[in-house]
Amino acid sequence: MSTATMDAPQQTTQADFLPLLGTDYIELYVGNAKQAAHYYKTAFGFQSLAYAGPETGVRDRASYVLVQDKIRLVLTSPLNSDHPIAEHHRKHGDGVKVLALWVDDAYDAFEQTTKRGAKVYMEPTTLTDDHGEVRMSGIHTYGEVVHVFVERKNYQGVFMPGFVEYKSEYNPASVGLRYVDHCVGNVGWNQMNPWVKFYEDVLGFRNILSFDDKDISTEYSALMSKVMSNGNGYVKFPINEPAEGKKKSQVEEYLDFYEGEGVQHIAVATNNIIETVTDLRSRGVEFLKVPGSYYDSVLDRVGKIDEDLKPLSELGILIDRDDEGYLLQIFTKPVEDRPTMFFEIIQRKGAKSFGKGNFKALFEALELEQSLRGNL
Ligand code: FE2
Repeated sequence: MSTATMDAPQQTTQADFLPLLGTDYIELYVGNAKQAAHYYKTAFGFQSLAYAGPETGVRDRASYVLVQDKIRLVLTSPLNSDHPIAEHHRKHGDGVKVLALWVDDAYDAFEQTTKRGAKVYMEPTTLTDDHGEVRMSGIHTYGEVVHVFVERKNYQGVFMPGFVEYKSEYNPASVGLRYVDHCVGNVGWNQMNPWVKFYEDVLGFRNILSFDDKDISTEYSALMSKVMSNGNGYVKFPINEPAEGKKKSQVEEYLDFYEGEGVQHIAVATNNIIETVTDLRSRGVEFLKVPGSYYDSVLDRVGKIDEDLKPLSELGILIDRDDEGYLLQIFTKPVEDRPTMFFEIIQRKGAKSFGKGNFKALFEALELEQSLRGNL
């Protein structure tokens, strides 16, 4: 029996104490930001936007800012071994450090969250240059991940003060990625509910969807997940924790290899998943492949869809339906050698859920990869 639940839309007149306008940027700490930038441009269709490093007066690190429609990716590497970013990279490998949230008032976001118990990462700060000002502040979340609140209503520059335009003669075309749909965190055993409470109490999010280990388990690996959403639904953070199965949970494998809690996947939306995934594959992005038998019965489960099944099955795109519509989704393999962070490509056609109907097929595909790594 399914125990997943989806709450009715919130009927409340209570003011949102942390109004969010969306995801501002996602910053990854990586071993070689120059090469990572090339990879995300070449493979994922990002465009060069901004740069900070020695040439711009930043002595200790280099940051490349890439953009694709509303998605901004910042790739940062340290320039010396005793830098805190070097320590982060030594421990975790490449991974997400900052999930930055776009706000109207970064000072108020800091006040509202810290008075509710958030741990301070960055005191409210105002950065200025000829293009105006960006106000920022930051708090810690699970693992070593942080939320930086970014207020940019009085800024007209390319990214923020300290950055210059990143000009490149190498500009591969976009693959049609549009915005960040959700970012998933993996937390430790028995840590899901404390972090759910953190997002409820400290950021004013609510739990819109829950999956227990009966929903998300195969013969082997199990996990539990709760989806947290801010008031307007622009920002969604599902939180996973491992569950006991016959063999090692995929979340546990992540925790072992990331050496701690962190961001498991970033889901990015497209308006045409067939075109986007065809393009990504031709550029070398590798995807999880579900067994071909998935497509024998999928339409019995999800009903009529607009797309032909043939290209979906050739590309390995998964389909799921909820009360409001359907969605198409696919997951990349991890984008590092450690089996840690990966991407999801998603096209929503009314559905607001996360593809529960695909969990079983997906986890079987994942377990195949896990066993190839010797980690089941
Ligand atoms: Fe997802």
